[in-house]
Amino acid sequence: MEKTIIPIASGKGGVGKSFVAANLSIALAELGKKVIVADLDFGGSNLHTCLGIKNIHPGIGDFVRAHLSKLDNLLVETEHENLRFLAGDVRSPFLANMRHVQKMRLISNLKQLECEYLILDLGSGSTYNTLDFFGMTHLGMIITTTEHTSNMNMLTFLKLFAFRVIERSLPKNTFLDEKMRDSYNRTVEEEFLTVSGILEEISKIDRNIANEAEQNWIRYRPRIIFNKCNLPGELDIVPSIENHFKQNLLLKGDYFGCLFTDAAVTRAFQERKTLKNVEPYSHILEDIHLLADRITRLWKKPIRNSASLLQSNSKDVFEKRLKK
Ligand SMILES: Nc1ncnc2c1ncn2[C@@H]1O[C@H](COP(=O)(O)OP(=O)(O)OP(=O)(O)O)[C@@H](O)[C@H]1O
Ligand SMILES: [Mg+2]
Repeated sequence: MEKTIIPIASGKGGVGKSFVAANLSIALAELGKKVIVADLDFGGSNLHTCLGIKNIHPGIGDFVRAHLSKLDNLLVETEHENLRFLAGDVRSPFLANMRHVQKMRLISNLKQLECEYLILDLGSGSTYNTLDFFGMTHLGMIITTTEHTSNMNMLTFLKLFAFRVIERSLPKNTFLDEKMRDSYNRTVEEEFLTVSGILEEISKIDRNIANEAEQNWIRYRPRIIFNKCNLPGELDIVPSIENHFKQNLLLKGDYFGCLFTDAAVTRAFQERKTLKNVEPYSHILEDIHLLADRITRLWKKPIRNSASLLQSNSKDVFEKRLKK
């Protein structure tokens, strides 16, 4: 079975990762896809709440700590056909600090799970663990709001992710490897560390390795989702984000979806139920279904003009709703 892994990350917390992970998984399962949704927000696991599931199941914490041999045995059937849930670490404290070997074993076991879509709800911020879960595929999902701080945090997340990818492209325990780590300890007088700056530094020492690191980096193509949008005009920030991607991150992204603010989400959170159970005819559920449909058709393809397409689509959706 061909599997699409979708890790869901964000620079800033509280932008809606768990909400999207849960409700998007349900929407994909309703389209007949075999879906597993896993809670990888260690220390902050709350995905079960968004799925309307009780917090009683053993999960990844038990897999890591109790050295269980298989993740499959921990999968929980949900009330939704085709959707299974893998719990996080609610029963196992401090898993966010798991050791490198534990993380690598977890990643390899996650990749072996049998399904068509594996959705990963990540923690916010840029710990090595979160960056490595995000790097399980070249096509990760980043959620941001249209607020400046949220966008800045998204760009910082991606910059640190770039450093991580470049770092992992260097031969281990060499002068280069050491130099890369040294360059993180900048003095206040030095300029900010940038993706192109670091590649230039490496290139001065070994041009081939710098080229290889750059090739490894530019293979990534994050898919960006704006959540908690109030008006379509807020997406006017997209060209400047696009520009930042090109200039500072040397990267292309696709602007994949826009979800509007809706009080139905607050209600679903308060009642610890899925959106479908609380407000089956809400606009936000419509937005989620649009996103799920787009994912099944376009997730693995680069989308031309995705920024302007998203702007015009969102405007149409919004205006149609105003007319109703
Ligand atoms: N489209 C939306 N409209 C209204 N409220 C929303 C929307 N999306 C998310 N929220 C609200 O934002 C809050 C945070 O959502 P959620 O927990 O999914 O974010 P998160 O990114 O997973 O947070 P964390 O970083 O803490 O894991 C919730 O209270 C939820 O009700
Ligand atoms: Mg969350």
